[in-house]
Amino acid sequence: MGQELFEQAVNGINMKVLVEGSGPPLLFVHGFPLNHRMWQAQIEYFKNAFTVVAPDLRGFGATEVTRGTVTMKQHAEDLNMLLNELGLEEPIIFCGLSMGGYIAWEFWKHFPQRLNALILCDTRAGSDTEEGIKNRLKMVDLVLKHGPEPISSSMIPNLISEASQRTHPEIVEKLMEMIQSTDREGIAASQRGMAERNNFMEEIRDLQIPTLCLVGSEDQLTPPDVMKDMSSQIPNSNYTEVPGIGHMAPMEAPAEVNQIIGEFLASCQEKRY
Ligand code: MLT
Repeated sequence: MGQELFEQAVNGINMKVLVEGSGPPLLFVHGFPLNHRMWQAQIEYFKNAFTVVAPDLRGFGATEVTRGTVTMKQHAEDLNMLLNELGLEEPIIFCGLSMGGYIAWEFWKHFPQRLNALILCDTRAGSDTEEGIKNRLKMVDLVLKHGPEPISSSMIPNLISEASQRTHPEIVEKLMEMIQSTDREGIAASQRGMAERNNFMEEIRDLQIPTLCLVGSEDQLTPPDVMKDMSSQIPNSNYTEVPGIGHMAPMEAPAEVNQIIGEFLASCQEKRY
């Protein structure tokens, strides 16, 4: 993307973050095993009206790596500290994709006063099945032995739709580049953290802030029925399905996703700001 990342000491690590624009704070939290660059189209679009904050999470992109297990709570605590350090005191709009959504639940649980609205892209509120946990731990072994290369090509067909793979080779290339440049210990640590994440399916019935649930109709990892079910549990939620695209909706259909998010943010502004 070419913009300069700002370095911020946060909970014992150096975190890299892109901060652009001015206006109400809008936080973009990336999926696994990616970095802030997955939000390029959203950053460009929303920086005109918002203070856009797009960090590389602990262990990803240019941010320092922690070995072992990095829990979703740890990521949420890092984000809270980051906002403190950036002096962003007013409640934020939290936009997370997939793992970014898992982190959103912990952020809501521990720092509810910091949230103005939630945008949940291609994610879920439930925890993993036994099989899901086993698969994650297998991936940890693989990545620690062989690095991120072998997982990058096997992940792509699950990340974007067949149509996107055919018609947008540049998205495939960008995903490959992001995955392959991620530190193996960083991948392992958050993969272990996701394996032990909490189930929020009950708690989300108490979520009172405006929430947008957005999913690609071809998402294999967090399919529309999972997102629809999650959205139906949240009292103040809008559910939107974007046709023909997969898990990486914000990269695969940036114009549609920006429009959907923009309309949601405008409706929040009418209600709350
Ligand atoms: C992601 O996109 O963040 C991952 O698919 C999340 C996961 O592995 O559950």
